[in-house]
Amino acid sequence: MTPTGILAGIFLLLALYCGIDPLKQSAISGFPDFKSYKIDMPPWSLFPKEKDEENLLQRSEIKFLNQIQGPESMAFDPLGRGPYTGVADGRILFFDGQKWTDFAYTSNNRSEICNPQPSPLKYLKNEHICGRPLGLRFDKKTGDLYIADAYFGLMKVGPEGGFATSLANEAEGVPLRFTNDLDIDDEGNVYFTDSSTAYQRRNFMQLVFSGDNSGRVLKYNPSSKETTVLVRNLQFPNGVSLSKDDSFFVFCEGPVGRLHKYWLKGEKARTSEVLAILPGYPDNVRTNEEGNFWVAFHCRWNLYAYINALYPKLRTFLLKLPIPIKIHYLLQIGGWPHALVVKYSPEGKILQILEDSQGKVVKAISEVEEKDGKLWMGSVLMPFVGVYNLA
Ligand SMILES: *[C@@H]1O[C@H](CO)[C@@H](O)[C@H](O)[C@H]1NC(C)=O
Repeated sequence: MTPTGILAGIFLLLALYCGIDPLKQSAISGFPDFKSYKIDMPPWSLFPKEKDEENLLQRSEIKFLNQIQGPESMAFDPLGRGPYTGVADGRILFFDGQKWTDFAYTSNNRSEICNPQPSPLKYLKNEHICGRPLGLRFDKKTGDLYIADAYFGLMKVGPEGGFATSLANEAEGVPLRFTNDLDIDDEGNVYFTDSSTAYQRRNFMQLVFSGDNSGRVLKYNPSSKETTVLVRNLQFPNGVSLSKDDSFFVFCEGPVGRLHKYWLKGEKARTSEVLAILPGYPDNVRTNEEGNFWVAFHCRWNLYAYINALYPKLRTFLLKLPIPIKIHYLLQIGGWPHALVVKYSPEGKILQILEDSQGKVVKAISEVEEKDGKLWMGSVLMPFVGVYNLA
């Protein structure tokens, strides 16, 4: 047999194995309807190349180590107390200045299966039962806390906490499947994202790899109690944040790495445009006092992720290999978890970049909340909160 023949033989066997997946070891074996979509990546040259060479985020303070698991959102109430955060076991916790206490919850079916686990990822299995509060925002006038729960939709709880009530769990008859983040304008309208109507958060890896484009940006009207779709056919829309004057909001779109601007007022009202091409995979975005936007990134783009994005068939082939999804994940994020946060002006200009490119202190930041000269950083992968002093 010639070397080419051997190679062809091996390739044939591999293709056969992948096609049948006899041992059900592939990352998509439980997803018979898995389909990978084209991801409309900008040319590689358009990705911003600036870096924080000093790795300033390595100077972050680690707070509340092992007291909280996987805090995603960081919110302070209208009196400046907090933070409040949603954690991996489904609770929303409140730091009263001394200690963490239970504040609210989104599932009415919590049981011992929601009890503490050794690591944030161990909670994934029961998230749909225990709940997973992601985006949190206080209504500054009423003190109500609005919650985007990945499984239970848009919810609200009063200033005293407790069991949250549901505000929306569908739009246009299509159930919310992965509610992710929200913001509230002065009139009480809520703008929020449903990352996908096909995949839930516990299957976020399959969602990332498929490039599924069923994500939506929605609006909840508190007077009519109706939810309408503002933007559709999005790939993993995530963070949402209003501009300081409520004339527009920005939202992140994951696999294509874009920050969009959606106009609410003026002649461009109800239209959106691309505000910035992002250097990595975005999560939440938060507006600071000056009206600039802090975008938190799960990771920076790398060539492997970029090529995967361009070729859907290659993605499906790789996912069918008997490789644990954890390895796919590590390749996708560039080998190891690291941290990147970027501040944008309302015109989409980069104002500041902060990184921990080694993930030595902080990693995979989910949200950056700026308060009194400090950045409060949560992460679904960290068992603590990172605090960076801007001064
Ligand atoms: C409630 O939780 C139990 C596990 O503790 C689960 O078996 C059951 O399906 C849940 N019920 C609902 C309605 O989610």
